[in-house]
Amino acid sequence: MYHSIYGILVFLDSHLMGVFISLASICATIILFEILTGTSNTKKSSMLLFSTGSFVLVLANIQTLVYEGQPGGLAHAMMYIANFTSYAMNHVLLFAFNLYLEQFFTETNGLDSSLKRFKINNAIIAASAVFLVIAQFTGLYYTIDKDNVFQIGKIIGVSFLGPMLVLVILISLCVQFYRKLPKNIRLLLLLFSINPILSSTTELILSLHTDFLELESSHQLSTLSTIAMSILLYVFDLINIRAVEKDNSELQQKVDKQNRHIIETQDKFILSLAVLVESRDKSTGEHISRTKDLVKFLIEEIEKETGEQLFNAKFKEKVIQAAPLHDIGKISVKDEILCKPGKFTTDEYAEMKTHAQKGADALNNILKDSEEDIFKDVAVNMANYHHERWDGSGYPNGLKGDEIPFEARIMAIADVYDALVSKRVYKSKMSFEEADKIITEGMGTQFDPLLEKYYVAARPLFEEYYKQFED
Ligand SMILES: [Fe+2]
Repeated sequence: MYHSIYGILVFLDSHLMGVFISLASICATIILFEILTGTSNTKKSSMLLFSTGSFVLVLANIQTLVYEGQPGGLAHAMMYIANFTSYAMNHVLLFAFNLYLEQFFTETNGLDSSLKRFKINNAIIAASAVFLVIAQFTGLYYTIDKDNVFQIGKIIGVSFLGPMLVLVILISLCVQFYRKLPKNIRLLLLLFSINPILSSTTELILSLHTDFLELESSHQLSTLSTIAMSILLYVFDLINIRAVEKDNSELQQKVDKQNRHIIETQDKFILSLAVLVESRDKSTGEHISRTKDLVKFLIEEIEKETGEQLFNAKFKEKVIQAAPLHDIGKISVKDEILCKPGKFTTDEYAEMKTHAQKGADALNNILKDSEEDIFKDVAVNMANYHHERWDGSGYPNGLKGDEIPFEARIMAIADVYDALVSKRVYKSKMSFEEADKIITEGMGTQFDPLLEKYYVAARPLFEEYYKQFED
């Protein structure tokens, strides 16, 4: 055991400069990654402070290796600077780790009762840093002798008190909240707290043995393990980020599933409501579902040519979803008019025509608290304006051309086409050719002429679709 430890330290001693330079490179790379990928939150800042502190600590140790035992005033000054920096950086690392954990505890439910202890830790670190500055000028912790070699001061032990107290407080947190902490944070907290105690004790034990006293590496164990902790902190944080990302993605999948369920339920509800209204005039509700499908066919043809220029995915979905509600205003039309098999009188027709405006009013009321403004607007427009005509001779408002909302212009074609090719109480169904003739002739007068090519493209789909009802 003795020989193997000695062998490792002798090997380390002969490569100490190389090891420090490699560690400095790793720290610099981590700092670079953190700057490139980091955001400005407290946890990220504390990690950046930790990596930077580790980097400076390594540089200070390289400085010690270069100047220790070298003659001259420059070497003397450099030794003082390097040793002060080394002690100061240990305080910075302690502060950064405390800050990192404080942020983690703040973000995690049920751990906020611990926050006072992080404040106490910060106060201890600050007091310890003040003592460090005083010791620098009084030589109480260490001195640099005339040969420019580091010499332990009279009360070097005091320099460990503050940091040790902080570590004990951190261990107390780990013990108290053991079950509530994620495995990797628990391990990190334990390692970070126990590591300086273990490495300092090891250094102390080794210094009692004369063979080890001459080995520089035996005095560098604390520094080496602190740097290792810095790298570990970065790796653990990455693992933590991955875990959070995984949780978020699972949560997102659940939310998506629930959203789909809500939309499906909403769809079924809308369809049932519309069918209920439609059933008053003895229809089976098929007009409702058929016009919805015709609207879908038309939109898909438009989409093929224009991409998302006229319809984005959300708008398309809402137009199709709202289509069944276009005649909902019929609920307030009297039975004797709604179910009349023959022709309407002028008054009856006037009453019948109110269904558009009444439908829009009803939807405005029903959906006034809806969070989805698009759905409300689309549904109201389709109900209100599906009987408007391109030439301005429609109802209820006599809107003309582009004044008629786009979704209502599409609804108008689907509504009329279905009425033509379906059997109603007052008429028999028309052939596809006759219906097509009426729709095509209506382009530019009743319907938006720009929609003609999409109707022509969708026509085979319409006919194919209606053939299934013939069977
Ligand atoms: Fe209508």
